[in-house]
Amino acid sequence: MELSNSVNYLCSTYGDAFADVYDDWYQQVTDVEGTVALISNLSEGLDVLELGVGTGRLALPIAAAGVPITGVDSSSEMLKHLTARDTSGLVTTHLADMSRWLPAGQFKVIFCAYNTFFNLVDPDDQEKCLQLVSDHLTPDGLFVLEAFVPSNYSLLPTRGVESRHTTEATVLNITVREKVSGVVRGQSVQLGEAGPILRPWRILIKTPDELDQIAARHGLDLVERWQDWHQRPFTSSSDHHVSVYASASS
Ligand SMILES: C[S@@+](CC[C@H](N)C(=O)[O-])C[C@H]1O[C@@H](n2cnc3c(N)ncnc32)[C@H](O)[C@@H]1O
Repeated sequence: MELSNSVNYLCSTYGDAFADVYDDWYQQVTDVEGTVALISNLSEGLDVLELGVGTGRLALPIAAAGVPITGVDSSSEMLKHLTARDTSGLVTTHLADMSRWLPAGQFKVIFCAYNTFFNLVDPDDQEKCLQLVSDHLTPDGLFVLEAFVPSNYSLLPTRGVESRHTTEATVLNITVREKVSGVVRGQSVQLGEAGPILRPWRILIKTPDELDQIAARHGLDLVERWQDWHQRPFTSSSDHHVSVYASASS
């Protein structure tokens, strides 16, 4: 399987690097209950696919709510954690690059939460991913994407160093924005008794308008945009969006 999207940084790099700390560091990073409620509601009990399913932070409670769910992730380490947590085998998983392959069949809801779409750091991969999404939705299916709004997000990672402390270590997050590509490269440096542990990450940030344009090029029209999973209205000051797209031909 071809998993690379640049010479030194593979699409598995982020997940493999963060899998051991992901559940500790990010369990509450977004609204799990709100996500479960809205995705379950939109799915009407039919098949759901999560892109970048990770350790199952969202997919496991969605499955527990009785929704049939499949997850794709490019990191075998992330999927190992999901499998260990999924003691009843409720989530079907596939190791794959979401810009190259999605599972056969059609889904009522495909979703990509917590800025995960920005993990596709090649613009062509963002295009390819949304073409695959378009190909794998039922005729009345919905694509749901959650991301921050770059112009309003006060924690926007662009350049600099920030630090935080856990009980065992200090963690530095160092970021730089590549001028030409716009890709933000980050390095998380955990300084603890075991010595430094490096965890690289990269994102290619898009505005809501840019996302709408990519979606439209692949036959997906924006049908709803909220500022959160509780369907609160999206405004010019919203710092996040939950956007819902439907097939333009439906
Ligand atoms: C920020 S985590 C989100 C995980 C999970 N959706 C959640 O909200 O907790 C991003 C996930 O996307 C995965 N990922 C990154 N690039 C990917 C790609 N090209 N194809 C599939 N998964 C990818 C990473 O391995 C990681 O598990």
